[in-house]
Amino acid sequence: MNSILISKWTKAVIFLLCLVPLGILVWRGLHSDLTADPITFITHTTGIWTLRFIVITLAITPLRKILRIPQLIRFRRMFGLFAFFYVCLHFTTWIVLDHFFNWSEMWQDIHKRPYITVGFTGFVLLIPLALTSTAGWIRRLGGRRWQALHRLIYITAVAGVIHYYWLVKSDVRAPLVYVSLVAILLTWRIAVWFSGQHQRAAAESVRRKSSAAPNLLDSASPRRPGET
Ligand code: HEM
Repeated sequence: MNSILISKWTKAVIFLLCLVPLGILVWRGLHSDLTADPITFITHTTGIWTLRFIVITLAITPLRKILRIPQLIRFRRMFGLFAFFYVCLHFTTWIVLDHFFNWSEMWQDIHKRPYITVGFTGFVLLIPLALTSTAGWIRRLGGRRWQALHRLIYITAVAGVIHYYWLVKSDVRAPLVYVSLVAILLTWRIAVWFSGQHQRAAAESVRRKSSAAPNLLDSASPRRPGET
């Protein structure tokens, strides 16, 4: 298992698998098989794959800790970048096929339709994460700042599920599945953060007590002659 996970071939295979949704779209496009409403079909396919890759990216850390498979971290950046890749396709479909570069119409859409406003916010927040995903940027920002910046992915995930929930008109079962997944992953994160805070507070109080102990002894001991 370990050797499979650290093999460069596994990474290559997963990379190709991540391209399968795009491959299917292209294949169906070439065979005029994009349903009666191709623009909606492309928008929906790229949108749902964006959300799936966001959820997969967020699930890597809990999975690697719960299943004790640290090597899973090797794939997190790739999944995150695929989320960005599919949202770029999703956004480009909206710009090119939905609005034919009509910027004022698009601006109105972002202003007037809350689900577009929220989706757009999610997209904008992914941009700095994609740009700073390299080892060079981790070094430049420093681990702590880089991690703090990359927590934006949680806001994107929340924006993504709200966007999906709001745009679905009747059957909300599928959006609710994603709402639940994001809620579970966020709760896990918050629980880990709280237990970390608790452990840090406990360690701090032990440290304080142990540094205070000699002083107490000092003040309890009788003064020697000549001491002030
Ligand atoms: C992180 C950002 C985003 C995520 C996760 C996301 C996700 C989704 C999902 C899951 C769907 C529905 C797919 C389905 O029904 O199977 C969807 C549809 C759609 N999205 Fe997004 N999206 C995002 C950003 C955007 C942006 C930036 C725009 C445009 C500015 C946009 C415009 C649309 C439109 C027009 C639809 C179709 C609405 C309809 O059917 O009436 N999305 N998106």
